[in-house]
Amino acid sequence: IKQESLKYTGKAKTVYTTNDPDILWVHYLDQATALNGKVKETITGKGALNSEISHLLFDYLTRKGIENHYLKKISATDELVTALDIIPIEVVSRNYASGHFVSKYAVTPMTKLEPLVQEFYFKSDALDDPFINDSQILALNLATSEELAQLRRVSQDVNQLLHALFEQIGIGLVDFKLEFGRTATGDLRLADELSPDNMRLIDTLSGKSLDKDIFRQHSGDVTVGYRDVLNRLQQVI
Ligand code: C5P
Repeated sequence: IKQESLKYTGKAKTVYTTNDPDILWVHYLDQATALNGKVKETITGKGALNSEISHLLFDYLTRKGIENHYLKKISATDELVTALDIIPIEVVSRNYASGHFVSKYAVTPMTKLEPLVQEFYFKSDALDDPFINDSQILALNLATSEELAQLRRVSQDVNQLLHALFEQIGIGLVDFKLEFGRTATGDLRLADELSPDNMRLIDTLSGKSLDKDIFRQHSGDVTVGYRDVLNRLQQVI
């Protein structure tokens, strides 16, 4: 497989086309952003940590039967994935109140949320990823009602699997964001990355953040938290 042209520059990744039209090449950057890209910083080693964590988590989900885009890790910071038609919806799942759920609804941080809270956001940097509901998604033709049901079901399955996995290593899965895409034949696949950039993880004993909240809140070195997550995952995966 050969890398060809730059397809997309994200906040923490760059994506390239390859000589195979069905395969994309993803490179993880040593970069962190907050407030939808308004705050940006270089963090040495972060790309490799996220690449490895994402690799382990996708591998785990694949073994558990969750269909996804991940194909192969090709270097410390690079991977190959199936080219998908990405659905412009971010699916956020919340086990405990944190972040925007706390600021929007004035609930006590870390309140247990039952049932699992699921929210959709319209992926748009220009609009700052606004909240979007089912009828808005259908009216804007972003997804079909069957796809919406699948987004909910797969997110719930992923939550159960990751929650149980992290529990084994003393980490609480507070919330996370997933993205999905369609294959050429219209089948839904989990896409994007699975890393502490996209999920809130706390050390169960100390309650300390091990995820991007360290960067958002300027409370320390994110790579320390991410390395801790990786080390613990390597003990069980
Ligand atoms: O900011 P908020 O509380 O809505 O975030 C919920 C979860 O979704 C967090 O784990 C956050 O990292 C993730 N998220 C994300 N990308 C976004 C918005 C939220 O990964 N654009």
